[in-house]
Amino acid sequence: MSTAYLNGEYLPLAEARISPLDRGFLFGDGIYEVIPYYCGQSVGLIPHIQRMIDGLAAIEIKCDKSLQEWTILLDDLIAKNQGSKHNLGVYVHVSRGTDTIRNHAYPVDVSPTIFCFTFEIKEPEPVDRSNAATYTVTTTQDLRWKRCHIKSTALLGNVMHYQQGHASGNSECLLYNTDNELTEGSSVNAYIVKDGVIITPVLDNQILPGITRRIIIDSIIADGSIKIEERTVTMDEVHNADEVWISSSSKEIAPIVQIDGVNVGDGKIGPVWEKAFAIYTAAKFTHS
Ligand code: PDD
Repeated sequence: MSTAYLNGEYLPLAEARISPLDRGFLFGDGIYEVIPYYCGQSVGLIPHIQRMIDGLAAIEIKCDKSLQEWTILLDDLIAKNQGSKHNLGVYVHVSRGTDTIRNHAYPVDVSPTIFCFTFEIKEPEPVDRSNAATYTVTTTQDLRWKRCHIKSTALLGNVMHYQQGHASGNSECLLYNTDNELTEGSSVNAYIVKDGVIITPVLDNQILPGITRRIIIDSIIADGSIKIEERTVTMDEVHNADEVWISSSSKEIAPIVQIDGVNVGDGKIGPVWEKAFAIYTAAKFTHS
């Protein structure tokens, strides 16, 4: 049984309780993070916490924990879950808190609900073509909201798109806007590779500023051996790409081998992914 954190207390996950009047439950009124720890070593801890602090400010949830207090809390939670021996993801959730009635307006004098728990994540991928996991995706128009840069706990739009992929036997669903431009996947950022250049959509309100994305871009630029561009990517470019990848804290960088049943390139893991993955793997624990 894993140990969770709820409003200042560490307790068995199965014993954690919140009120049904919590605004996270009623409205999805909260911000969350998922942070990977491999045998106690976190990836992107400070940027993850900073993104959460920024998200809380964006929706005016007053949570007075500092970056340092968050770091201590999460490190304690990892230690209580024998994190030095396991690969764990930490789910961190801050909702606006529990009101006395259901009312859309932000309540005053309500303390946020802070809930964190850990879960097992898989080993990082080996840099070996034969063993790496590959993914297939479907595509659909992005029907989520227009504030996708906020990591809101209100994920029904994402969940419905993910389910579209899942129900058609795929591992993800790539999304495009009304101009036929790639945004991201339902729970991942997206990339194409063309003629040796990595290209990923620019940050705006249509996509989440992924921490894995940031580490990938920074480490590729620092390494200098592969060109990387942040720009608009059309779906025509996606369908004609040499390689297509997705990234997230739990999947790291993962190669897509099929889109809507059609092979990407030759349908195998591409050489640029292999190289980029090695660069990312070498940099991920030191990025801050
Ligand atoms: N998903 N885009 C969306 C819509 C996401 O939900 C996520 C993360 C990402 C990648 O962000 P990062 O690299 O910071 O994990 C992009 C998380 C893992 C989830 O909801 O479980």
